[in-house]
Amino acid sequence: VTRKRQSVRKAGAIQVVKLGGSLLEDAAMRAKALRSIARTQQDGTKMIVVHGGGKRIDALLGRLGIARKTHAGLRITDDETLEPVIAVLAGVVNKMLVSELGGLGILAAGIAGCDAQTITAEVHPPIDGIEFGHVGSVCGCNPSLLFAMIDRGILPVVASIAISAKGELLNVNADALAASVAVGARAAGLTFLTDVDGFLDANGRLVPRLAQAKVEELLAGGSVTGGMRPKLEAALGALRGGVDNVIIAGPRNHRTALAKRSGGTHLVAA
Ligand SMILES: Nc1ncnc2c1ncn2[C@@H]1O[C@H](COP(=O)(O)OP(=O)(O)O)[C@@H](O)[C@H]1O
Ligand SMILES: [Mg+2]
Repeated sequence: VTRKRQSVRKAGAIQVVKLGGSLLEDAAMRAKALRSIARTQQDGTKMIVVHGGGKRIDALLGRLGIARKTHAGLRITDDETLEPVIAVLAGVVNKMLVSELGGLGILAAGIAGCDAQTITAEVHPPIDGIEFGHVGSVCGCNPSLLFAMIDRGILPVVASIAISAKGELLNVNADALAASVAVGARAAGLTFLTDVDGFLDANGRLVPRLAQAKVEELLAGGSVTGGMRPKLEAALGALRGGVDNVIIAGPRNHRTALAKRSGGTHLVAA
């Protein structure tokens, strides 16, 4: 008698976790976040980790004497910048996370979004006439490799690099990549682990719940700045793509956000 194997897609219990840049650079915060991820996985939730690594890239560019160029919050990635970007994201940061998860007893394997065409992107259009070079805007996610890994009990750790239709490597925003992974893998939830407790109001107070319409309103106005803007844009993309449990959480609420889906800012479709 052959029993049909339950597909992870049908189980519907995938959680996508995006690890932010500041968190990646703080060993104690990172260890705490990875322990939360490990425990959640060991409790039976299927996890996918997505990461960026902007600060680590800046440090290497500095050592190589390559100027850091940005425009509209995006890194201008010319030919000479692309190599260190790939080396840091798909190499240094990715393998650091894989090894630290390994130390917690988790079978993790690192890929970049380009592997098996998991994340496709197109060259980012210029802003104010400025070209970004090897920077992509995410088109979509093919979850085959992610599902194959999860089916074998392997936790995928995904670096924020995508591939174009022509086979070019593109540097993409990690929040956008995480949202695309969550939609493509039909994840039950998406959690952005960052360095603030969630979305803060003008008085610096945590906003526990944000409806989609309110997020749209906030983004249309100019008040959301810095890294919170791409995060809210990505959250909106996830909500529109059918991921109905999106949380922005910080160092104080990693564990409850992942295990109990409480704490931080909850972004909801209605
Ligand atoms: N309304 C807001 N609430 C919280 N953080 C905000 C807000 N507006 C801007 N920010 C900034 O966004 C940052 C988080 O984004 P970012 O630095 O890109 O982190 P990550 O590396 O996790 O993506 C916060 O540290 C804060 O400086
Ligand atoms: Mg960011």
